[in-house]
Amino acid sequence: MTFKGCLFDLDGVIVDTASHHFVAWRTLADELGVAFDESDNEKLKGVSRVDSLEFILQKGNLVLDSNTKLRLMEKKNAHYLGLAAQIQPSDALPGIVALIDELKVLGVKIGLGSSSKNAEQILSKLGLLDAFDTIVDGNHLTLSKPDPEVFLMGANALGLLPEECLVLEDASAGVQAAISGGFSVLGIGRKEELGQADAVVSGLGDLNWSEIQNLLTHK
Ligand code: BG6
Ligand code: MG
Repeated sequence: MTFKGCLFDLDGVIVDTASHHFVAWRTLADELGVAFDESDNEKLKGVSRVDSLEFILQKGNLVLDSNTKLRLMEKKNAHYLGLAAQIQPSDALPGIVALIDELKVLGVKIGLGSSSKNAEQILSKLGLLDAFDTIVDGNHLTLSKPDPEVFLMGANALGLLPEECLVLEDASAGVQAAISGGFSVLGIGRKEELGQADAVVSGLGDLNWSEIQNLLTHK
């Protein structure tokens, strides 16, 4: 299979911010007296800030007014940004920078498709802000993954059709978003969570673009 574009998720694909999001949500859930473990967190990967808060509130049978919800989201985000403050270029996950460089040489278009409103800030810390042909993030979206909006906007901005793009995702919600948008998707993580993807790897490691595309062909 040959793709003309590649859409990257950010958190958990380009950099391990997934663990920072988890710590920040768990701290907030603790303060609210809501049990929150790794399996809850798995469901929130790729899900927007507001939908993540709603998940926690629903789990705890809590009903809060909108000002309180805003305050809680600001608090979670401040905690998250504090944890993410030290991110530097060497924190890009293995294989990411090499893949981006290779795609540029090959003329394959690259886009970011993230639910995060902090995406540009995080990419800037990684020195990757200028690497993408298009960036679609939580500031542009009306619907959170698993809705395909993020990837459809990304493909459209690259001037490509969904079937011409490969999505790289670490989250079940993101894999579902890609599938329902008509994209091929490589899951990066565990088969248990990402089994619906066309192929799953534990990490990109030193896989090059041709090897990645072969994984999809031989699914
Ligand atoms: C996704 C993360 O990329 O972005 C989620 O997987 C996170 O964990 C979501 O909640 C929203 O991020 P932010 O940075 O806008 O709070
Ligand atoms: Mg992710």
